[in-house]
Amino acid sequence: MEKNQIQDYINSNKDRFLNELLDLLKIPSVSADPKYKGDVEKTAEAVKKRLVEAGADNVEICPTKGFPVVYGEKIIDPKKPTVIVYGHYDVQPADPLNLWDSPPFEPVIKKTAGHPEGAIFARGSCDDKGQMFMHIKAFEAMMKTNTLPCNVKFMIEGEEEVGSPSLGPWIIENKEKLKGDIILISDTSIIANDTPSIDAGLRGLAYMEVEITGPNRDLHSGVYGGAVANPINILCKMIASCHDENNHITIPGFYDKVQEVSKEERAELDKAPFDLNDFKKDLNIREELGEKGYTTNERTGIRPTLDVNGIWGGYTGEGAKTVLPGKAFAKISMRLVPDQSSEEISHLFKKHFESIAPKSVTVKVTAHHGGEPVLVPITSKGFIAASKAMEETYSKKPIPTRGGGSIPIVALFKKELGLDSILFGFGLDSDALHSPNEHYGLFNYYKGIETIPLFYKYFTA
Ligand code: BES
Ligand code: MN
Ligand code: MN
Repeated sequence: MEKNQIQDYINSNKDRFLNELLDLLKIPSVSADPKYKGDVEKTAEAVKKRLVEAGADNVEICPTKGFPVVYGEKIIDPKKPTVIVYGHYDVQPADPLNLWDSPPFEPVIKKTAGHPEGAIFARGSCDDKGQMFMHIKAFEAMMKTNTLPCNVKFMIEGEEEVGSPSLGPWIIENKEKLKGDIILISDTSIIANDTPSIDAGLRGLAYMEVEITGPNRDLHSGVYGGAVANPINILCKMIASCHDENNHITIPGFYDKVQEVSKEERAELDKAPFDLNDFKKDLNIREELGEKGYTTNERTGIRPTLDVNGIWGGYTGEGAKTVLPGKAFAKISMRLVPDQSSEEISHLFKKHFESIAPKSVTVKVTAHHGGEPVLVPITSKGFIAASKAMEETYSKKPIPTRGGGSIPIVALFKKELGLDSILFGFGLDSDALHSPNEHYGLFNYYKGIETIPLFYKYFTA
């Protein structure tokens, strides 16, 4: 009966639930760009307001060194389990703006591939405002129908997209406040709207920046060309040498801690339906590319990677300038899998990159933020509750998958609070997160709101 009550409440509030999300999406909470500082703070206020309206107690905007954490709770009975909901209200920068079909902070609803009933187009619609807001609406529905079966604590941060630098310290200072039984997060994807899945792991991240210096100034490329090192030529060679002909990474020791996934588990993970032709068509590529010996799903799920995120130097303006640049730069990131450590890999990278540079240049390697990979035990109470909840609303058992992205704070939840996280995502990989025309399906939004209360039910039972 409970379920119908909640479903009725959701059905009769559908339009309002949507409009409230659209309002949230209109605030450009780009955490990476100081220009939007005021808007990020305004978004925290908006989240606070919605938590209060939904029925949360002790709602506060908790200051940190960076953007605040929005906290709120409902303790119905200290003897009952406590679900801690984590999400983020900050978003990625919207650029390149010219590639958006509609302005990123003026949400519009349109039909698109994979979403015949329409999707909300806006930066943050899927990652993570839309997914985070489902939890506030699901909580509201449980509160207004008197069906909340356990305690809830909300912890919504504003710095996930810049590596969560302030949330770690905040958690350590607030361990008492954050006593609970499980962390619940919707910030990942499912396979397809008719194929639910739950990530049983996420990759970690080591993010580096390199600077190659050659001659002490930019030079005439005719007068000096051929006689001194060109830092861009050298950098390209160095980067190219980081993969061998099988696309294995060549950094000594890089794979030492990589957990080999058993044949059985690989077979299990390979049950996830995947159409390579659709994959190629969606990305408009003739052929996929990756580490030899692994399938596309394995390459993004259980294997580590090394990728250049950006590379610059020399002349990139209009027309041609004949110059031999004095410097070259690149941002290089590595996705990590259990049991690689972000600090260790950063160190191995630095040592290796310095060692392969010819004498004709000098190399400076610095590390940016990182994060550890995580695994979620699929036999745990939380995973099973999530699985049952999805099975009920999708009429299909969700498939355990591995997420290729990273949520660095998840490893910290385990380390500092001793809590596992349930990666209860409802987005699609094709929702263009971090890209132009990010969107989130209306189907996915409402399905999430409908499924979340069932997690509470099964986790409490
Ligand atoms: N929500 C994503 C992570 C994600 C997306 C995991 C899809 C699995 C599937 C998160 O907001 C994100 O973008 N994380 C960053 C890391 C962060 C340090 C900037 C990432 O994965 O690049
Ligand atoms: Mn996210
Ligand atoms: Mn993101």
